[in-house]
Amino acid sequence: MEKADNLGELLEAQTHVGNAMFHFKKSACLKCAVELGIPDVISNHGKPITLSDLISILPIHPSKSAHIFRLMRFLANSGFFVENPQGYALTSAGRLLLKDEPFNVRAFIFLSCDPAQLKPWNFLTEWFQNDDPSPFDTAYGNNFWHYNAQEVRFGKMFNEAMASDNQLSVEVLMTKCKSVFEGLTTLADVGGGTGKVARAIAQNFPNIKCTVYDLPQVVANQGGAENLEFLAGDMFQSVPRANAILLKWILHNWNDEECVQILRKCKEAIPSKENGGKVIIIDMVLSDEQKGADDHEGIETQLFFDMLMMVLLRGKQRNEREWAKLFSEAGFNDYKITPALGLRSLIEVYYQE
Ligand SMILES: C[S@@+](CC[C@H](N)C(=O)[O-])C[C@H]1O[C@@H](n2cnc3c(N)ncnc32)[C@H](O)[C@@H]1O
Repeated sequence: MEKADNLGELLEAQTHVGNAMFHFKKSACLKCAVELGIPDVISNHGKPITLSDLISILPIHPSKSAHIFRLMRFLANSGFFVENPQGYALTSAGRLLLKDEPFNVRAFIFLSCDPAQLKPWNFLTEWFQNDDPSPFDTAYGNNFWHYNAQEVRFGKMFNEAMASDNQLSVEVLMTKCKSVFEGLTTLADVGGGTGKVARAIAQNFPNIKCTVYDLPQVVANQGGAENLEFLAGDMFQSVPRANAILLKWILHNWNDEECVQILRKCKEAIPSKENGGKVIIIDMVLSDEQKGADDHEGIETQLFFDMLMMVLLRGKQRNEREWAKLFSEAGFNDYKITPALGLRSLIEVYYQE
């Protein structure tokens, strides 16, 4: 009896290991479905689509027709499609794969599955045994930002992925968090990429003069507007003066010392809390109660992002204690966390005179 129980446990353990070692296959199949246009075909059909109708529309070789069912079965099981007696339909997650969906995350899927981004994961072990800053450095002999600047294809893909990720964040910011920006007259989006977020703030708040500040190759050729300008620079050297500095998805890219350097530059650039100054950070705040927490998928996704920061850069995701330490080391003495953006939070950071 004891032995039988033990064997049962071992079989479960084998399934668990199998699931973990095959995780990457899920992203590869997802990318393939997007490239073949499966979500768009389903959506354009206007009602659930039968397998034979789907196959007749997809751009595939006739010899592969029989395999589409397998891809659909796998991705339906993963929550992207539902199969009912009338055929396949999209789930909410499946809708985020549509070309015409404003909140689609297709560009992020392409980036995540790109061989250039996957390569450093094969250097993780070697990195643990050398003193390189990141597995990315080990794989390419170059850091992520230099590589991004040199490899035009990859840099473009990265900027598009960031912009695609911003669509939903912008919507949430402009509906649920508008009060954060009220009363400001100037805002600098430091590391603001191609300006998706600043553009939305500038449109929604015509009285705020917005500056997108990023590396020269990122802001080159970006068109501004009446209350929106693009400025090239290095945030480790200086940060534009403003009532508020926005740091969205910036600090998780850097180690603690670098974050303190960036935050100090931000503090020099803004007025005190009494005079309306603040830093607005959008980043993850990891839960301290990871074991046994209910939201297993949410926590695992946050931890995936933490591993991503370790592999590509020198950064990490932080819990509240770690954030508070950075703020105090940079000279700030007040902060407020609003967990309004799914896996990410909005953190307002202040200093008082
Ligand atoms: C993860 S992306 C986030 C972009 C944007 N804030 C967003 O949320 O989509 C980090 C950004 O930091 C920029 N960056 C990296 N090093 C920088 C530096 N030294 N000075 C200014 N920007 C920098 C990158 O070019 C990139 O646009």
